[in-house]
Amino acid sequence: MLTTFGCQMNQADAQRIRGLLAGLGFTETEDESEADLILFNTCCVRQHAEQRLIGRIQSLINAKKRNADLIIGVAGCMAQNMQGELLEALPLVDLVFGPNDIEDLPLLLQRAASEKTTGNFAPRGAFDGESADGIILHRPFSAMVNIIRGCTNFCSYCIVPYVRGPEVSRPLDELEKFIKELAGRGVKEVTLLGQNVNAYGKDLGLSEGFATLLERIEQIDGIKWVRFMTSHPRDFSLETVKRMAALTKVCEQYHLPVQAGSNRILHEMKRGYTRERYLELIANVRSHIPGVSLSTDIICGFPGETDTEFGETLDLIRKVRYETAFMYYYSPREGTAAAAMAGQIDEETRKARLADLISAQNAIGLEESQKLTGKTFEVLVESEAARNEGHLVGKTRTGRSIDFPGDKSLIGSFVKVTVEKARNWTLSGKPVAEEKED
Ligand code: SAH
Ligand code: SF4
Ligand code: F3S
Repeated sequence: MLTTFGCQMNQADAQRIRGLLAGLGFTETEDESEADLILFNTCCVRQHAEQRLIGRIQSLINAKKRNADLIIGVAGCMAQNMQGELLEALPLVDLVFGPNDIEDLPLLLQRAASEKTTGNFAPRGAFDGESADGIILHRPFSAMVNIIRGCTNFCSYCIVPYVRGPEVSRPLDELEKFIKELAGRGVKEVTLLGQNVNAYGKDLGLSEGFATLLERIEQIDGIKWVRFMTSHPRDFSLETVKRMAALTKVCEQYHLPVQAGSNRILHEMKRGYTRERYLELIANVRSHIPGVSLSTDIICGFPGETDTEFGETLDLIRKVRYETAFMYYYSPREGTAAAAMAGQIDEETRKARLADLISAQNAIGLEESQKLTGKTFEVLVESEAARNEGHLVGKTRTGRSIDFPGDKSLIGSFVKVTVEKARNWTLSGKPVAEEKED
């Protein structure tokens, strides 16, 4: 049993972990009482993520009593951050290893069967020629592809650079080969991942490496849609936007984390752009990419943030009108610059600001969603609808899920759907034509 928290980096690591475990003869179960191995692929970006994990592990005490051979393992960023300390803090845990130790999993598991075991947590150098056969896809037609590992930005609030190490791009030719292999396996959609995909290739000496990579993928037969996340507004050049606009496979879904609307706070966060530069980027994206869907990440209650400065964030989301936003209240992370700043804001205020932010964005998101009714979108059918028998869920190029009636044989193919109803994030509609397009 493997549970993944956190960002898409962890989802991509999970693809790899599943591949390795399958190679060792493991079959996956969702049932705790059946499992011989319970692995948590963890996140430590906010304290809340850590608390959730601790609760989950403590709840496994009975499973451990029932099955003496059960191995409980913690992987991912929290493991990398706490390393051996985690074994002391959580006595039920047998194995701790970081994102850089995944390749050693067969050996680590062998050891964990008889003693408490940790990975070596050492940084890894270059990407090591991972093959498409070595991963297991949650959906056979869709894959996540890590194009750049780590982060060198050191935004003042963020722990990621400390746990994931410096930016290392995967070489262009190797990525091209990897994505061709995926296409050969029937993959139609790839999501290119990195904490800052716009920095792709800088460490390899490429300029505009991200645009070049996208142009190479455009030429790969079988791949129909290309998604990407996350973009760093500072590194997203106008040239990249223009080159992307010329490509047919790149989806019109731009996740552009702004974090705050006040220039002073952006500066304190070390984001490297101003509110004005950010709004200019948004205007460029909107003018070159028709029908683009915009989303963002926002932090409220950063140390020293005044009511007026928070008001500038509210003002910014009203100006941009994102379809959706991931919103958080600031969570101090030990070792980061912001955790040591004066003017830490009490939790009550941070939470109250978050509530205001969420209600403002929800209203905008709903209005934007309602504008989609009556429109027709091509969707890639992902699955059956969870609570709606005889219905499917497909995702548009802009990343919106639409529920519509259809037969499950359509899963993995492209269907045109007209939106009939919009309720917050969920859209429902009906198919335009029943036949598969493929
Ligand atoms: N690389 C991406 C984001 C990675 S972390 C980027 O630069 O945008 C995902 C999100 O978590 C961030 O965008 C930020 O909004 C949030 N986050 C990171 N550290 C945080 C902290 N200490 N407290 C609250 N939210 C945080
Ligand atoms: Fe964290 Fe900033 Fe890197 Fe994103 S760009 S992972 S927020 S340090
Ligand atoms: Fe969390 Fe690690 Fe991602 S800290 S956000 S899982 S890189």
